Amino acid sequence: MTQTEVHDPDRRDFIYYATAGAATVVAGAAIWPLIDQMNPSADVLALSSIRVDIDGVEEGTQLTVKWRGKPVFIRHRTQAEIEEARNVSLDELIDPFARNANLPEDAPATDENRLIDPERPEWLIEIGVCTHLGCVPIGDGAGEYNGWFCPCHGSHYDTSGRIRKGPAPRNLDVPVARFDGETTIVLG
Ligand code: FES
Repeated sequence: MTQTEVHDPDRRDFIYYATAGAATVVAGAAIWPLIDQMNPSADVLALSSIRVDIDGVEEGTQLTVKWRGKPVFIRHRTQAEIEEARNVSLDELIDPFARNANLPEDAPATDENRLIDPERPEWLIEIGVCTHLGCVPIGDGAGEYNGWFCPCHGSHYDTSGRIRKGPAPRNLDVPVARFDGETTIVLG
């Protein structure tokens, strides 16, 4: 699958506008299980992975790709974003766990633990589904913590994708992912 095929910016726009009102949040919540039923079986899913070319994703921008039916945010963070994330003490966090599928479940939510490769802190990869009721948060420095903002019920995520304010209970999930060379990320 090429990057062009998985890049789906319209999807985010649709979710944002469709879930802006309370009534349509219910509709949004109903959509995901329906899509899940149409997905391949678990063993097929377990094998599915995609390669994403990140060459050309400028610093301070985000590429959104679709993987296993969900948006995945690939953020090329600025130095300021990295420093902001690292200046947060763990006791300020709502969710103390990293939620990184590449690490043990009890790994603390340090900025380093939120990454797929601590040697490349400029790249933050996370599933773009709000952990409250499943809307797709707005990126590009949105919200009170300059990361992502979910307009459905007002959840604010920081520059490490950690929930900082609002009803969402958990940090955005970091999927199984790794670098393959300098400019390719393998999801799954
Ligand atoms: S779905 Fe409710 S705040 Fe995101």
